[in-house]
Amino acid sequence: MSRILVTGGLGYIGSHTTVELMAKGHEVIVVDNLSNTRESVLDGITAIAGKRPSWVNLDLADAAATQAFFAGNAFDAIIHFAAFKAVGESVEKPMMYYRNNVNALMHVLDYVTSNPSCACIFSSSCTVYGQADHLPISEAAPMKQAESPYGMTKQIGQSMLTDAAKAYGLKVTALRYFNPIGAHPSALIGELPLGPPQNLVPFITQSAAGLRGPLQVYGKDYPTADGTAVRDYIHVVDLALAHIAAMDHLIRQEGGDMHVFNLGTGKGSSVLSVIQAFEDATGTALSWAFAPRRAGDVVAAYADTERAASVLGWRAQRSLADSMKDAWRWQEGLPS
Ligand code: WQD
Repeated sequence: MSRILVTGGLGYIGSHTTVELMAKGHEVIVVDNLSNTRESVLDGITAIAGKRPSWVNLDLADAAATQAFFAGNAFDAIIHFAAFKAVGESVEKPMMYYRNNVNALMHVLDYVTSNPSCACIFSSSCTVYGQADHLPISEAAPMKQAESPYGMTKQIGQSMLTDAAKAYGLKVTALRYFNPIGAHPSALIGELPLGPPQNLVPFITQSAAGLRGPLQVYGKDYPTADGTAVRDYIHVVDLALAHIAAMDHLIRQEGGDMHVFNLGTGKGSSVLSVIQAFEDATGTALSWAFAPRRAGDVVAAYADTERAASVLGWRAQRSLADSMKDAWRWQEGLPS
């Protein structure tokens, strides 16, 4: 089996991917600087995987520390999650996002360009498409002007990887996530936003748990079936399994090109339908009210899933109801 570095491996998608890699028998090394997670996530990973992965508290934006880390290590593949990811926060603090997200990737690429056999998987986002002209969104859709500094750091990252792959013959894949939600069915790991949740589903579960006030539904006049915005909500375990499929595919490729895959369910769900799905799945009523639209939101986004299915042999298996049940079970297990 392979030796895999998971950067941001104590984060939401990183931790779920780490447990799936370990279930496949891979040796996983996690680096994380705990800027948006807690070390206790490691306990959840260990309980699920049956053993504790190696982990290093490392800030990948620190060039010297990162170089020293890589000097003592060799990897068959790197899955790079480590980045700041709150769209709204990036608008308020753009330089924090550019400095962290771009530098961290730069320092990871310093290792990969010196070790071109190391496969590199980059955590990208459907936000690179902006409001796509056609739905569902395929990988051929053009990248539009990013709606936020966060989205711009993902576009910059993809450009860096494309150019480096071509110049140095690297094995690189960018995975464009739609909306990750839910939690591991064990409820031992899940989404743990530090501070008020920016995203819909963790706000729903915290509101339903009485930790937040009523959910504000941002906008009721979008040109959609019920007037609320539409997204493609994908269970985080499905997303984690997609990373395994993408890594297995990439390791078999020749270097030189950046491979791109949209990761979603292919199904669009409006905010109101997500609320309904939560109430139906959990039997818990949610208090909510309409509010003005949120700046930077697109009307609708959901994935064309054919490329991931045909090339990676991967499709999302879990439903919106599964995600709601797992998200609620995780929330109910958290200390209030
Ligand atoms: C979803 C919908 C909101 C909160 C996220 C990530 C981004 C990328 C894609 C990975 C929107 C509405 C939300 C609330 C609401 N993922 N909403 N009330 O903005 O699609 O982007 O997924 O890279 O990084 O940020 O997700 O969950 O914030 O919003 O009405 O309190 O829910 O307006 O329509 P978004 P989100």
